[in-house]
Amino acid sequence: MNYFEYRSGEMFIENLKVSEIADKVGTPFYLYSSASLAYQYTQFKEAFGDLDLLICYAVKANTNQSVIKTLGDLGAGADVVSQGELRRALAAGIAPEKIVYSGVAKTVVEMLFALETGIYQFNVESEPELFQLSEVAASLNKTADITFRVNPDVDAKTHAKISTGKSENKFGIPWKNVREICAIAAKLPGIKLVGLDLHIGSQITELNPFEQAFTRISGLIETLREDGHEISRLDLGGGLGISYEGDDFPPLPREYAEMVKRVVSHLKCQIIIEPGRFLVGNAGILVSKVIYVKEGEKRKFLIIDAAMNDLIRPSMYDAYHGIDPLKQSDHDDRLYDVVGPVCETGDTFATNRLVSPMNSGDLLAIRSVGAYGAVMSSTYNTRPLIAEVLVKDDEFAVVRPRPTYDEIIGLDKLPSWLSK
Ligand code: LLP
Repeated sequence: MNYFEYRSGEMFIENLKVSEIADKVGTPFYLYSSASLAYQYTQFKEAFGDLDLLICYAVKANTNQSVIKTLGDLGAGADVVSQGELRRALAAGIAPEKIVYSGVAKTVVEMLFALETGIYQFNVESEPELFQLSEVAASLNKTADITFRVNPDVDAKTHAKISTGKSENKFGIPWKNVREICAIAAKLPGIKLVGLDLHIGSQITELNPFEQAFTRISGLIETLREDGHEISRLDLGGGLGISYEGDDFPPLPREYAEMVKRVVSHLKCQIIIEPGRFLVGNAGILVSKVIYVKEGEKRKFLIIDAAMNDLIRPSMYDAYHGIDPLKQSDHDDRLYDVVGPVCETGDTFATNRLVSPMNSGDLLAIRSVGAYGAVMSSTYNTRPLIAEVLVKDDEFAVVRPRPTYDEIIGLDKLPSWLSK
């Protein structure tokens, strides 16, 4: 479902004209659709039918509390990877017993906070982390329910920077060590081994890597049960890709769910899934204004008021994002390089892209930025973080205002020897 559609040549989000929001909020800003979030969540959930399933939204994809709460109100739990994310999930009303804590290296301070909060499970990624958690939990007289994140050595066939399930990646317990570490965990105080976990990567657009990894982990669970461990949970991570309007046609939730059920339901485990991008990616656009149209010697540049600090995905992963005008034109598209004003050649959203003809002051939307957009932004070039806006039907709200210059510059403190 597309909640961003043209009506009489003007882009709408649900029942609001995007340009009218832009007039009130000022560009650039992120704009999210509640209906799109709800549609994605519901579609995902329904695909699994009556499977014993906990959907833990991977909040790293978009940590705005209004986004977390929209999904939480529909029943989602949360997958967090830091104390900050845990605090945000709690602040957005997610119950601790629906929160799983992933992450490569949890610190003592983070463990203490999570144990005191009473989260559902820790996904442990290494032997040192296991020993540390045991010590911290025992010191509090608590028991941490844990899964081990295992590394299935499967190629997710996605961008190298977001592929996590190969043996050379830093993630998870090496496959050959899993039985041994489970045996160690069984004897440690403060620890209860309840399951296994994996996450092989992100923006995965084929079922096959998932199926390979899930098949491997199912076999491992059977082995661990034979070893005497009570394995009652299986966390399959996130990773289901979305369409970025390019040539990628990711599996439908129904296809993904059918495969999951086929491969793992005989285990009778509670299944946990940590989708991020699938739930929020297509629910957001970045609205920006053309500052200048510049004729280069070889190229025509649309220089817009959003930059790489606001959306890093194109420069970091060569990611493709659709770029469309808020007002459709009767004229043919033209070839542009769409760039931001930051002094780096990497500050480029699209190269040689056919876009509707534009002039200075025109508004455009960069599509599919609901996931890993705002959360990865920075204040590089002392550009304040841009606003985030959420729409529900014919209402909108600024759900993160743009900080003022005084606020961001005021974060620096001069040392005594410079402040005289
Ligand atoms: N679970 C774990 C343990 C993860 O590390 C991640 C994402 C997810 C779940 C959610 O994956 P998703 O369903 O969103 O694919 N910044 C990159 C994506 C990094 C993903 C990191 N881990 C991007 O912009 O493409």
